[in-house]
Amino acid sequence: MSAQTNSYALISGASRGIGRAIALRLAKMGFSILINYRSNDTDAKAVLTTIQKEGGTGELLKFDVTDSEASAHALSTWHAAHPNSVIKILVNNAGIRRDSLLIWMEPDNWNSVIDTTLQGFYNLTRPLLKNMIAHRFGRIINIASLSGLKGVPGQTNYSAAKGALIAATKALAQEIARKGVTVNAIAPGFIQTDMTSDLKTEELKKLIPAGRFGTPEEVAAVAAFLTSPDASYITGQVISVNGGLYS
Ligand code: NAI
Repeated sequence: MSAQTNSYALISGASRGIGRAIALRLAKMGFSILINYRSNDTDAKAVLTTIQKEGGTGELLKFDVTDSEASAHALSTWHAAHPNSVIKILVNNAGIRRDSLLIWMEPDNWNSVIDTTLQGFYNLTRPLLKNMIAHRFGRIINIASLSGLKGVPGQTNYSAAKGALIAATKALAQEIARKGVTVNAIAPGFIQTDMTSDLKTEELKKLIPAGRFGTPEEVAAVAAFLTSPDASYITGQVISVNGGLYS
């Protein structure tokens, strides 16, 4: 185990997909992983088991990131139980898609997508900032989307949420750059996960210059870089991982 054993990385929505890949990758870097998840105990435990088999450490932290009280309770309980440990890395990864044209979009499909991304960002980032600032070190990584950069028809809710997350990334980065805390966003294009399993892959591949969907590991590699000392002067940025797909 490396020198980072008592340094924790909290990853929201880490039981599968991109969050899982980031959890496994950061565990290999020596961070102890806090695996946040909402409901799937089996998948979350499987991520923890894989981390442990590979020589890493971690814990499960089950709560819904849209629930302010549950998020605050989970984080304060964890801090009380780990008075000498610091959450140095926060990856705001939890996200959902509820696509439809705006004219047909029911309020729940608007609110749930906005809440998961933005309320989730607020509920986790604000409580962890104080400690990061006190230790003059922190890495916040927000998983945005190509949709938040260019806007995608059928995804007004998702584009709005991810676009706002990008704006929040840039604003917060400027607030805390002097404190040694960086805030960056990753904007994936089409990545092979459960979230994209319903899409017409063959048709979409033709639009992607690289000719394929990306893998969760390719997104995790960028998250790993952003947590590394090599990325200490990078803040307020959006890094696309999209196989060349811009419009
Ligand atoms: P996924 O659907 O496989 O994983 C999302 C995870 O977030 C799931 O584990 C889910 O349970 C969790 N989650 C959702 N709501 C939650 C809540 N309220 N509280 C706690 N956990 C919650 O999707 P994927 O593809 O791994 O997505 C990860 C992130 O990457 C999301 O923010 C997504 O918007 C973003 N993204 C994904 C792309 C793709 O092509 N797969 C493209 C661009 C962005």
